[in-house]
Amino acid sequence: MVQSTGPKKIKCAVFISGKGSNLKSLIQFSKKKNSPISIELIISDNTKAKGLKFGKIFKIPNNVFNYKDKIIAEKKIILKIKNKKIKLICLAGFMRILSKNFIKSFKGQILNIHPSLLPKYKGLNTHLRAISNKEKYSGCTVHFVNSKLDSGKIILQKKVKISKADTAKTLAKKILIQEHKLYPKAISKVFIL
Ligand code: GAR
Repeated sequence: MVQSTGPKKIKCAVFISGKGSNLKSLIQFSKKKNSPISIELIISDNTKAKGLKFGKIFKIPNNVFNYKDKIIAEKKIILKIKNKKIKLICLAGFMRILSKNFIKSFKGQILNIHPSLLPKYKGLNTHLRAISNKEKYSGCTVHFVNSKLDSGKIILQKKVKISKADTAKTLAKKILIQEHKLYPKAISKVFIL
């Protein structure tokens, strides 16, 4: 008897620049039986990214690209991704802005997680800016990537209360815990097996 291998999972690449805690949560999610994704590739612009260790631990190929020349780096990444038949790109703390050309090559196939309640606080230093503006809440957002920074269609958001004692560091920590839950949820919302 031939056993069915079940529905095919969506091949996914995760892009990181740093710690990779969202990468870790996505890998754990991908290993669940009902997860719609399988992570085939980790891509980074930074040889020192701590998150690359998860590639080693979970036996997922790490690929670091030299961003001295962004155009060449992106060309190589596009080739790699097409070769591997990747259908979904998850940006997880990837601190480079993708070119319009890159985004066009993967239209509707790139997701990002951002540590604010978009459209508020696009870009960097989100926590510090939210605290300085005396916001009562901040949070995180998973969205599609389009050619405008942090502006694509929002898939899911999670609100996090800012307490009087919060610093950028403590708020970042609280929000990161929610990010780890939100990214898998958002993927499940968009891609059903
Ligand atoms: C996360 O907070 C993510 O939302 C943020 O970087 C952190 C990466 O943490 N991304 C951005 O600011 C993108 N503009 P991680 O490396 O531990 O997943």
